[in-house]
Amino acid sequence: MKSRPYLIAANWKLNGSTELAHSMHHALAAVDVFSAEILICPPVLFLHQFPKLRPYQLGAQTVSDQAQGAFTGEVSARMLADAGVSYVIIGHSERRALYHEDAALIIKKATQAVLAKITPIICFGETLAEKKQEKTFEVIANQLDAVYAAQPELLLHSVIAYEPIWAIGTGETATPAQAQAVHAFIRQHVAKLNADVAKTIRIIYGGSVNASNSAELFSQPDIDGGLVGGASLKPDEFISICQSVRD
Ligand code: PGA
Repeated sequence: MKSRPYLIAANWKLNGSTELAHSMHHALAAVDVFSAEILICPPVLFLHQFPKLRPYQLGAQTVSDQAQGAFTGEVSARMLADAGVSYVIIGHSERRALYHEDAALIIKKATQAVLAKITPIICFGETLAEKKQEKTFEVIANQLDAVYAAQPELLLHSVIAYEPIWAIGTGETATPAQAQAVHAFIRQHVAKLNADVAKTIRIIYGGSVNASNSAELFSQPDIDGGLVGGASLKPDEFISICQSVRD
């Protein structure tokens, strides 16, 4: 058994409905025990569709970088905490690319989350072009360094998600060996920044995780779970993924 508890997170993105919230809850509640911590990150509107008593956690997909005030459309970390949220995905590549979130904004958001006692899941990953130029390690190191340089304590309170951008929603997954190599690199790099954090920080993999590839991915020594997009919209498949963790 790994010393770090597994985390399997569902990232529904801009998908889902009240009906899916209910069917996912019933499917998860019917399972006796999971060998992993399970997390559902639906659109915030559906958070209240999940009962307070549940064998899994709730998360959000982003959070405001502001605490409160005149910021139309934003949802603060304290509001998320009030709605039962314990994790928030921050710096997903879709938010970095489509909503121009840069390192400074990601750090502000993660800081707001930590202040509200919500664990940030900070996403890192390289594009296909960067992978082809063999720049994966350099890109990830720079992304990690940007967070560490601005807020050294943030990593202490965070989960890292390695999400190669070329594998997100494409059906193309990093092979378990490829993913393990990057996860090991991330852990070594974090060790240079803080050796204690490197041992305990959870590094989860995201990018076309499904019920057929999850068991092998999760059996890698430095892969502590998964961030699951498309396959998390199907309760049966998501549960198979959650059950593919070997304890
Ligand atoms: P995917 O998405 O599983 O659909 O590739 C993963 C993610 O973007 O978190």
